[in-house]
Amino acid sequence: MSEPIIEVRHLSKSFGTHVVLRDVDFTVKPGDVTCVIGASGSGKSTLLRCINLLETPTAGSILFHGQDIMAKGFSPSSYRARVGMVFQSFNLFNNMTVLENCTAGLRYVLHQDKEAAKATALANLEKVGMAPYIHARPRQLSGGPEAAGGHRPGPVHAARSAAVRRAHLGP
Ligand SMILES: Nc1ncnc2c1ncn2[C@@H]1O[C@H](COP(=O)(O)OP(=O)(O)OP(=O)(O)O)[C@@H](O)[C@H]1O
Ligand SMILES: [Mg+2]
Repeated sequence: MSEPIIEVRHLSKSFGTHVVLRDVDFTVKPGDVTCVIGASGSGKSTLLRCINLLETPTAGSILFHGQDIMAKGFSPSSYRARVGMVFQSFNLFNNMTVLENCTAGLRYVLHQDKEAAKATALANLEKVGMAPYIHARPRQLSGGPEAAGGHRPGPVHAARSAAVRRAHLGP
């Protein structure tokens, strides 16, 4: 049986008296796709933010490959280089193309060389049907204010996730 990548144990998070997460428990193993579904304001983003250490849980623990991410001496920056989070507003760089947006993290955080980063990004963009848009800018994808009617949906629908690089899935 494969070892868990992420274990969330008895996780709670409150903002003042407002309890947003109460005793949340789940485990993510290699190959798992875990969806968090709930009403607006139910705490989905807060959960992802806790997993990414952008919020400090009120109680409980989160283990990454068995290591407590809130333990003293644990490095949030090297952890975040291994566990990605796509923000709700995407936060893409508008002055960069789709391909450049997808290679920036690989090059500047994971220090891949330009060609390797491009190959990884192209392979993944291809998988989600984005190959025709690699030279487009984010504004062109979302329809933008200049699009007729302003309500035209863009060709991109992004799933938000806590994603772990394949190379880090092993022990
Ligand atoms: N920094 C904060 N300070 C105080 N309250 C907060 C903070 N962040 C989130 N909340 C509150 O926590 C609750 C959960 O918010 P959260 O953003 O996690 O919901 P969500 O499930 O992601 O909603 P949506 O589907 O709209 O994105 C909301 O009531 C929100 O107002
Ligand atoms: Mg949210």
